Amino acid sequence: MTAQIAVTRERRADETRVAATPDSVRKLIALGYAVTVEAGAGLTASYADADYAAAGATIAPAAVQALANADIVLKVRAPADQEITALKTGAIVVALLNPFGDRAALDALALRGATAFAMEFVPRITRAQVMDALSSQANLAGYRAVIEAAEVYGRALPMMMTAAGTVAAAKVFVMGVGVAGLQAIATARRLGAVVTATDVRPATKEQVESLGAKFLAVEDEEFKNAQTAGGYAKEMSAEYQAKQAALVSDHIKKQDIVITTALIPGRPAPKLVSAEQVASMKPGSVLVDIAVEQGGNVAGSRLGEVADVGGVKIVGYANLAGRIAADASNLYARNLLAFAGLLLNKEGALAPDYEDEILKAALVAQGGAVVHPALKT
Ligand code: NAI
Repeated sequence: MTAQIAVTRERRADETRVAATPDSVRKLIALGYAVTVEAGAGLTASYADADYAAAGATIAPAAVQALANADIVLKVRAPADQEITALKTGAIVVALLNPFGDRAALDALALRGATAFAMEFVPRITRAQVMDALSSQANLAGYRAVIEAAEVYGRALPMMMTAAGTVAAAKVFVMGVGVAGLQAIATARRLGAVVTATDVRPATKEQVESLGAKFLAVEDEEFKNAQTAGGYAKEMSAEYQAKQAALVSDHIKKQDIVITTALIPGRPAPKLVSAEQVASMKPGSVLVDIAVEQGGNVAGSRLGEVADVGGVKIVGYANLAGRIAADASNLYARNLLAFAGLLLNKEGALAPDYEDEILKAALVAQGGAVVHPALKT
């Protein structure tokens, strides 16, 4: 029997993305799925119902109808309570479930008997690169952070020599050079800024330099061992953080724009810029705190707002990827398309192999319980 996929509208107020595009729907159908899309699901990301229908989707008037027969539900965020209630028994839910931050949604999915996969837990192995939603979204968030900074900043980013005088190039400092930070560096460089960057993982030094930016960090013994086997940062000692703060203090007061992206999986975001450092910056300077939803890297950043601290602006927009919704949805939909392919067997029937390394790593709820080892209480 043809497996049914449902895509519903996102219920969270600031979520503009959608989990499928007309293009991904066409490809899901080619894999052997039937797809139902809730009317209006793609509107905030500029995808029209007529285009989903032309791609072969059935358009359902409301989420309840879309979900009634769905074997698989594709979402950007965790389904809302009314969607969870409408799930078919044993339905599979695939989304960015925020597993460390939104326990209530995991428990609700488990209670409903759903099988839930968190896209955040897809392992960063070569075979799963095409499903790496953290990367696809962080990349666009890094780009968008620079665009937001440029919008708030009252000056130009590139140097301009005009008859009326010279406009100086902006100095941009990127703190945290993962996927988002690398794209922020590249974007700021394209706009003509003079870019420096810092991170606690030594591997980033070469990456920063290869993008034409300058690297700045306390390169001691702890720094040399700061990368975990998984490629993530460790939480640094208080002593390292103090040395890092001293080095950065002198640098930050000369910067026009600071973009912070530092995260440690499963932990609050490290505090990288203090109130004193913010106060040391020139009026008109801008900070963009990409980590604001995980507690923030910058003292005084406020979720969803642009805070003005003595003339220095701190941009704390949530969901930066959602502010470039069409592209973010397109890339995320491709991540999900690849993931959905894994749930089928060679004959095209829905038969997830729960021993598969990727499915095993991403599985968070099954058989009425939250099952992921990192989430067991
Ligand atoms: P992330 O979003 O977890 O963190 C962002 C950055 O913040 C990281 O570079 C981290 O080192 C840095 N950071 C943490 N604490 C800091 C501090 N106190 N000061 C300054 N910086 C700090 O990282 P993301 O973007 O998920 O990337 C993590 C790693 O995974 C990278 O090595 C990346 O290249 C790698 N990666 C590998 C992939 C693959 O092999 N398929 C795909 C994507 C990323």
